[in-house]
Parts: sequence; C-alpha cells; structure tokens
Amino acid sequence: YKRITTKSLVEMKQHGEKISMLTAYDYTMAKIVDAAGIDVILVGDSASNVMAGHETTLPITLDQMIYHASSVVRAAERALVVVDLPFGTYQSDPKEALRSAIRVMKESGGHAVKLEGGKEIKESIKRILQAGIPVMGHLGLTPQSIYKFGTYTVRAKEEEEAEKLIEDAKTLEKLGCFAVVLEKIPAKLAKKVAESISIPVIGIGAGNGVDGQVLVVHDMLGMTHEFNPRFLRRYMNLYEEMSTAISQYVDDVKSVDFPNENEQY
Ligand code: KIV
Ligand code: NA
Repeated sequence: YKRITTKSLVEMKQHGEKISMLTAYDYTMAKIVDAAGIDVILVGDSASNVMAGHETTLPITLDQMIYHASSVVRAAERALVVVDLPFGTYQSDPKEALRSAIRVMKESGGHAVKLEGGKEIKESIKRILQAGIPVMGHLGLTPQSIYKFGTYTVRAKEEEEAEKLIEDAKTLEKLGCFAVVLEKIPAKLAKKVAESISIPVIGIGAGNGVDGQVLVVHDMLGMTHEFNPRFLRRYMNLYEEMSTAISQYVDDVKSVDFPNENEQY
C-alpha cells in the first residue's frame, strides 16, 4: 500500500474516484479504520461529544486534540490523518493559528489540519499554509459556531448564505487549501460547489454530487443511538450488540459461569 497524500486526493477528484473519510480518536479504532481501506482519517473535534460527552465541540482543548491525534497517527499506515484545530486556537489572530497548527504537526505527527470558516479566517489559513502545513477547509454547518446559528439545522438554504458559501469555497481554493468539508447543506448547492472548484469537496449531509463522504465512525457503527439525522446511514447496531454482550458478561460473573475450568490457571 501507498500512503495517501493531499496530492492523491486531488488526483482522485481528477479521475472521478470518490474519497472515503471517517473520524477516529484512538489507536484501536484507527487501526481498524485504516486497515479497512479508508482514504482519510479525521481526528475531529467531535471527540468533544463522542469521547468526552460534552454537548458541543467548544470545550475540547488543543492538548486533548493532540493526545487523540497522536494515538491515531500511531495506528494509520495508509490513511492521510487530518486533525481539527479546536475552537479558540485559531480565530483570534494568524500567529496564534500558526502556533496551534505547528503544535499539532510537531506533537501529534498528523499530516494536515482542518479549520472551520471562510473569509473571516483567511489570514490564518494563509499563515499556516506558508509554513508548509496542508489545510482542509470546513463550510456550511460549522459546529464551533453553534451559538451563533442557534440550531444544528441545514445551512445555506437561502440565496444569500448560499452565495457566501460559494464565495468562501472559492477563497479556500485560491488560498491553497487541499480540500474542503461541506456539512449539512442542500445537495444541489454542494454539487455546484464541487463543480466550481478543482480541490476535493467532502460532504456530510451534503448529498452525492460531491467528491467524497465523511461520517463520525461511532455514528455509522451504531454505537451512538440518540443521534438520528437524515444523512446518517448506520452500517451496524453496535449499541445493541455491545449492550447484549455486556449484560451477558454481568450475568456470567454473577452466576459464576465465568471463568470456567478452561479460563483459569
Ligand atoms: O469533527 C468532526 O467529526 C467533523 C466532521 C463531522 C466533518 O468535523
Ligand atoms: Na469538526
């Protein structure tokens, strides 16, 4: 196997090969995801929800993201590892953004960073790219701005926001980002964006007219079960299967069925 690079992703778009991306936050999960042939592993700040149980992605820190990312990097042999810069580590000024991105690259060994936003964070993206760090953009529903939006509903349904999104995507391309994530926007708009820029567009809740798809791995495996957006396809019901296995273990311990003769020394 050959290591996937930011260049491979651009080539995949040129050849019309769709890009597969999933999140992972720890070594064991990343091992499985990588070996199964995923192109990109995202160490998402969704770790704030999935791993730490916070209601939003805002509380997770740079140190915590670096811990998750370094675990994933140790597991990934083929996939490109992209790491989210968490809320508050790149918005105030470009120098701070660069410092944060450098910490991620040096301390975790990740291959690229992802930042939420368009024009507003242009200078920060430029600074990071100048240092030789690949940047993935993220537009549409950007969960770090949840308190501005108020809800997690579909974004850019109105003309004005759609126009701004197209402009932002073009800005990200011009700056030199290697790809952009579009989250929870109308499929028609996402397709239009994918057709108007040459870098890959990876969608989540953005339809199939884009260049690739991303999901949170715990969601697609059915480990989380209270989260039911329309865009989510569950490939397993791990919540059920794990619950059954764990209750069985509890029963076996209580009834002294476990361990049996062969399971002891
Ligand atoms: O943090 C995350 O998991 C993400 C994806 C949903 C794109 O940013
Ligand atoms: Na994220």
